[in-house]
Amino acid sequence: MKMKKSFASDNWSGTCPEIMTALADANKGHAEAYGELDDVFTARAKQKFIENFGEDIDVFFVYNGTAANVLGVSHLINSYHAIVAARSAHLNEDECGAPEKFIGCKLLELESTDGKIQVRQIKPLLKSIGFQHHAQPKVISISQVTEMGTVYSIDEIKELADFAHSNSMFLHVDGARIANAAVSLNADFKSMITDTGVDVLSFGGTKNGLMFGEAVVFLNKGLAVDFEYRRKQGMQLHSKMRFIAAQFERYLTDDLWRENASRANLLAKHLEEEMNKIPQLEVSQDVNANGVFVYLPEAIIEKVREKYFFHVWNESPQGKDGMKEVRLMCSWDTTKDDVAGLGNEIKEALGNC
Ligand SMILES: Cc1ncc(COP(=O)(O)O)c(C=O)c1O
Repeated sequence: MKMKKSFASDNWSGTCPEIMTALADANKGHAEAYGELDDVFTARAKQKFIENFGEDIDVFFVYNGTAANVLGVSHLINSYHAIVAARSAHLNEDECGAPEKFIGCKLLELESTDGKIQVRQIKPLLKSIGFQHHAQPKVISISQVTEMGTVYSIDEIKELADFAHSNSMFLHVDGARIANAAVSLNADFKSMITDTGVDVLSFGGTKNGLMFGEAVVFLNKGLAVDFEYRRKQGMQLHSKMRFIAAQFERYLTDDLWRENASRANLLAKHLEEEMNKIPQLEVSQDVNANGVFVYLPEAIIEKVREKYFFHVWNESPQGKDGMKEVRLMCSWDTTKDDVAGLGNEIKEALGNC
């Protein structure tokens, strides 16, 4: 059976048409490689970031989100420091130990059922500060949107930033889905990130319509000094930089980012409603952005995945009747028909089991 649309992840979707046009437009003539001498594409894209985040920022384009996280955080710490993050954080679980290899530091993981971490969980770790036998907590890393589809409020981010700073730590935000979070909070990037006191942000693009490209944004220029050398040494200096830059320039023009993320978030809400109509299922997390987490009976998972692929998020039996928690992601190109198709496939599989 041929697979229809996938709900596996928002990077299973293609590149949105506006970005394809921007790439084609950038594909004319020559431009300085590596974004050097500030080729016009890179200069214009950086200006868009300044318009969105404020004057005192610095931004560096990289190829993927793992690199944005690892390089961004590594610029703030030494190997004897520790990063505090949720156990479920991409940085902790899904980067194949890249932080441990490339930063060489310890990750202190905190349990969290909704993907968020709280100041009260971090406080006990402060006892290590100044104790030479312990790795020194130096960066708090949160994901916005979290890996469980939830979104930190602006106040929650500010509380974490204030706590970090009052204990000589930094706050990093993994913003692979930052656009979906901004739409969810009806906020702009400046009020959610710059004004709350975030130090470094991994700004995602690939999951919301770009072909490739992410950005490391330092919200305080002083923190970014010499980052260009770290990026190059970290093998993330893209040679045809104009193609990342041109995508970001378009992405941050005419609210394309907002349009794409709004569609994905809206469809996730619709998907949640459809899932709630099926009595045997249970939505397991608040649907704040573009991910819907659902408890599904194990017996139907393989059947449904033949047509609409998705990931099992938690293999241990949970929810009522020991079901498995799966993640259904909507992207900029998910449609109501896709949601209806998935709903029908689930109902049919339930009827047959
Ligand atoms: C929360 C989060 N952070 C970062 C990433 C970056 O991943 P990649 O290195 O695949 O671009 C992802 C991708 O799945 C993600 O979900």
